[in-house]
Amino acid sequence: MEIHHIGYLVKNIDKALTSFINLGFKSESKVYYDPIQKSNITFLSNGTYLIELVEPATEDAITFNLQKKIGNSPYHICYKCNDIENTFNELREKGFSPMSEIVNAVAFEGKRICFMFKKDIGIIELVEN
Ligand code: NI
Repeated sequence: MEIHHIGYLVKNIDKALTSFINLGFKSESKVYYDPIQKSNITFLSNGTYLIELVEPATEDAITFNLQKKIGNSPYHICYKCNDIENTFNELREKGFSPMSEIVNAVAFEGKRICFMFKKDIGIIELVEN
């Protein structure tokens, strides 16, 4: 599966943006508020890799406790797929558990995404082309 981006959990999205820009990344989007993830989200690229910064905005955001636990750190790889229901069902049969419904993501112009988990590799995300 082709990788779309690496998701990075951060406490302060502005500080993280500055640090990635210092590493040669360029901003690829504005900072979006995603009401489903209750997080501020933005994208950066260095031409090869796309990084998504995710800042939990409130204590009831799904990633709030995870950020507190692991600190500022990568936490998911997002894979592209053509038919998200199909891929979702295939991965489910292979032991990945859904962490969310398939939802439309504000930061992806409404493209459908979902998160899944497998103990051996942690969190993955799917985004439909
Ligand atoms: Ni992501």
